[in-house]
Amino acid sequence: MGDDGGMTAPLRTAFTTALGIEHPIALAPMGNCAGGALAAAVSDGGGLGLIGGARGDWDWLARELDIVTGRTTRPWGVGFLAWSADPAIVRRTLEYRPHAVMLSFGNPAALAGPVTDAGVPLIVQVTDLDEARQALDAGADVLVAQGSEAGGHGGARSTLPFVPAVADLAGPVPVLAAGGIADGRGLAAALALGAAGALIGTRFQATQESLAAPDMVKALLDGTGEDTERGRAIDIARGAPWPPRYPGRALRNDFTRRWAGREDELAADEAAQAEFREAFARGDLRYAPVWAGEGTDLITDVPSAADLTGRLAADARAALVRAAGG
Ligand SMILES: Cc1cc2nc3c(=O)[nH]c(=O)nc-3n(C[C@H](O)[C@H](O)[C@H](O)COP(=O)(O)O)c2cc1C
Repeated sequence: MGDDGGMTAPLRTAFTTALGIEHPIALAPMGNCAGGALAAAVSDGGGLGLIGGARGDWDWLARELDIVTGRTTRPWGVGFLAWSADPAIVRRTLEYRPHAVMLSFGNPAALAGPVTDAGVPLIVQVTDLDEARQALDAGADVLVAQGSEAGGHGGARSTLPFVPAVADLAGPVPVLAAGGIADGRGLAAALALGAAGALIGTRFQATQESLAAPDMVKALLDGTGEDTERGRAIDIARGAPWPPRYPGRALRNDFTRRWAGREDELAADEAAQAEFREAFARGDLRYAPVWAGEGTDLITDVPSAADLTGRLAADARAALVRAAGG
């Protein structure tokens, strides 16, 4: 850190160096929310924008890939769900020359080959130590250690103890922390835990470029971490065959309140599932999920994602200086 106490020094880490970016911040590849505009905005702000390729709906993805390549010249990438994405879609995505591909939830081995063969950095999100070992075996260049505070789907570990355990296991491979990080203090904490940066989802839903509907963004502004709950009712009702080990965290609503702890009953109730799907299609938030992590408390505005990226980095820098007694 320089004469200014480090206030303006960039937060350079093994992750920023490996990806050629300015700030140790990655946008979580949020399905239906992190499109090309949001990814490009985070990349233009100095982070790594990742499109939420999810299970690989090609029509959606091709549109968003055109948007990201048209809007930014900085590094960007795409994330897929390891348990369900089609290798052919990953190969087609590689034709757009992403600077990184991220795989989450499930064994990455089947999808990793085309990515590493193309020389594209492979990021793998892990939720326990076995998955971390599997990711390293698959040739991951970056691991994301995700704690259960995260919005959306995830495993059972908590961010605070899980991140340093994964960092110890990964050795020279950079690790990003994910789950509950929504401001500069959280990013600073991630770096103090031995992470080389943070992967942030929930916070970026409330930005100008996010594809989240306005009523979802309002719910995030109004909500707190205590309003979130993890469960499988939404996946069961929408017929999404997520492995049961990855429940999803979302803002509680009428539907999740009604079915919490009664997932088996819901699985057998076709009328209730049909009712859900009809309301989901209308975007009715009494049923449809607002996936959200425990960092929801910290969302108080809807900035541009580029500004937010710069702010997170500057605030993290200031928090580290403060913590060091500067
Ligand atoms: C709305 C939303 C959608 C998500 N969709 C995906 C996804 O499609 N693929 C994925 O790997 N992770 C997804 N995640 C999880 C993120 O990768 C990440 O672990 C999480 O957002 C980090 O925690 P945070 O939300 O507290 O920042 C999603 C998260 C949210 C909030």
